Amino acid sequence: MTQFKRTLVTAALPYANGPKHIGHLAGAYIPADIYTRYLRSCGEEVMYVCGSDEHGTAIPIQAQKENTCAKDIIDRYHNLLKSNFEKLGIAFDIYHRTSDSIHHETAQEFFLKLYHQGLFTEEESEQYFDEEKQTFLADRYIKGTCPNCGFDGAYGDQCEKCGKSLSPNELINPISTLSLKTPVLRTTKHWYLPLQNYEPWLKEWLLEGHKEDWKPNTYGQSKSWIEGGLSPRAMTRDLDWGVKVPINGADGKVLYVWFDAPIGYISATKAFFRELESGDFHYAYPQHSVIKSGSRADWTKWWQDKETRLIHFIGKDNIVFHCIIFPAMLHAAGDFVLPDNVPANEFLNLEGDKMSTSRKWSVEMEDYFKSFEGKEDVMRYVLTAIAPETKDSDFSWKDFQTRNNSELVAILGNFVNRVAVLTQKYYNGSVPAAVHTTDADNELMNEVQRCTLSIDENIRSFKFREALFELMNIARAGNKYLADNEPWKTIKTDEERTATVMHYAIQVCAQLAWWMEPFMPFTSAKLYQLLNFSAEKFERTSFEQLSHGHVLGEPVHLFSNIEDAIIEEQINKLNETKIAIQANKVEEKPDEWKAEEQKPSVSFDEFSKMDIRVGTILSAEKVKKADKLLKLEVDLGFEVRTVVSGIALHFKPEDLPGKQVCVLANLEPRMIKGIESKGMILMADHSDGSLRMISPAELTAVGASVK
Ligand code: 2FM
Ligand code: ZN
Repeated sequence: MTQFKRTLVTAALPYANGPKHIGHLAGAYIPADIYTRYLRSCGEEVMYVCGSDEHGTAIPIQAQKENTCAKDIIDRYHNLLKSNFEKLGIAFDIYHRTSDSIHHETAQEFFLKLYHQGLFTEEESEQYFDEEKQTFLADRYIKGTCPNCGFDGAYGDQCEKCGKSLSPNELINPISTLSLKTPVLRTTKHWYLPLQNYEPWLKEWLLEGHKEDWKPNTYGQSKSWIEGGLSPRAMTRDLDWGVKVPINGADGKVLYVWFDAPIGYISATKAFFRELESGDFHYAYPQHSVIKSGSRADWTKWWQDKETRLIHFIGKDNIVFHCIIFPAMLHAAGDFVLPDNVPANEFLNLEGDKMSTSRKWSVEMEDYFKSFEGKEDVMRYVLTAIAPETKDSDFSWKDFQTRNNSELVAILGNFVNRVAVLTQKYYNGSVPAAVHTTDADNELMNEVQRCTLSIDENIRSFKFREALFELMNIARAGNKYLADNEPWKTIKTDEERTATVMHYAIQVCAQLAWWMEPFMPFTSAKLYQLLNFSAEKFERTSFEQLSHGHVLGEPVHLFSNIEDAIIEEQINKLNETKIAIQANKVEEKPDEWKAEEQKPSVSFDEFSKMDIRVGTILSAEKVKKADKLLKLEVDLGFEVRTVVSGIALHFKPEDLPGKQVCVLANLEPRMIKGIESKGMILMADHSDGSLRMISPAELTAVGASVK
């Protein structure tokens, strides 16, 4: 196994086309931050690079919507994102941007490197061209009538009405959204990366080499892509926004955004060292970095030295780009390190529903900061505690409140507060001496040691949820220790015992300050202040941190309760959104929609175990005390079934009777809110986050099998 000298951490470059929400934070930025902060605390050589992704059609389209220019959009959102991340304590070494010239040069050089080795294939195809604007049209710039449902506002890549994915030449009466004129077909040339040529290498490097160490979701998705067969992918586009294709005969063409964006990680590293050398910091954060000196050539150590471990933190919708396309590009270029791990997270839902900025069904960073000033760590805590590490998970405001009040305040805050207050009261804030160590004290030390070993192991294997739980176990052990040893009682009878117990309890606080830093950096700083201690003085191998006579700082509360009224305000806001969504008042921004990646393949035998039938809904009613559930009676021909379905936010019960649906009939029965549910109604996720029923196109016999 390779011994690594340094770790380069990246988090997906967010598109600078709008604000980002807590789903993005949980997906990449917080886990990457915990990981990097931890390695930094351990004294390891590590860098965390990120920046705004400022190219692709999403940017000019947003500009068109906001009636402004693309430059204005990227400047606005780059600054917003940068400041949001700072507020949340995301400690990047650098937060760069792909509009910077160093990125354009780096991406062009990379392209040329592959071009001169003859690694691209050139292909001509027919594409729509706007004669008035003298430009080729990206799929999203063409609208027309959907050949499937007749909707006359379908886009060149998809119809938002029926959800069908389209190609521009399938549209009936296409028009250019730029000039509102009919576009013409023109021949255009593009450069393709023949991904199929990299299949044998990908099989060896990824499928053989990372079977054991990559998360099942990352590995599984990559495997099904590779095994499904790879095909050439165009690495250039006809667009006037992006990195210009640096060869003759490519006027009006830019690099494909997914070609240039991951190279953004390399450019960001270059920009970091350029700023470090000059001492002129613009994008870099020298205050966060463990790299204190270096020259501009040092970026090569981080990208071209085999002793660098490259880790990409991403959401699951980015897997193919980080596990297949970018590695193939790096491999083709020849002298780059490859990702050692890609800990991709699944998605975070909000109150049971898919998060979406365009439907306003989200909690945007900026809004959170406004309503919860000083509670940045609470969001960091909750998003880590519910992180979608292995499957999609759900954020709810009630759960957020419970985790704050019953975990942070009642367990962690309460423990530290009791220790601080008692130390002030009994010893004037000075650490008492441990006199006789008993079994109870040893048990405490052992439990703390067990937790810290487990935190270390879990963070290193990207299991941040579990690591956080073990952090809280340290506080739980501290509370139990105080409850079992009752220093507030022994103070009247046994001074030595009291002093010993308080001595050890204070050590637990010092342990907490150090171990919580990656998860809750602001609270950790508060706790260090309370202890009059600092991370630099912490000795990793010792339980004892604060010796007899050390004087603590002033007691302060680490956390405070969140009242019902504050939470209700948030819930009301969402309820208003829900009403607006149902009334279709919230404007859709369909360009955010991306089809989910395919799941790993199943055999025909596995598939044929599913008994899917056509059924007719006989009745539908709301389930009491469950906003999202409907109880349906469905006629399946051979029997009438009760099915509880989580679709109440999407369908009115009175609209359902008589509808034909497809039902997974042999799904194991489950008790849901006291009702036995037998089967599942099949639904499709629509691009705007709503659901569509899967119904036979024509009236079909009830009970008919779906194959
Ligand atoms: O999905 C996204 O938001 C992309 N902007 C992520 C890019 S990651 C990388 F490759 F830069
Ligand atoms: Zn349609």
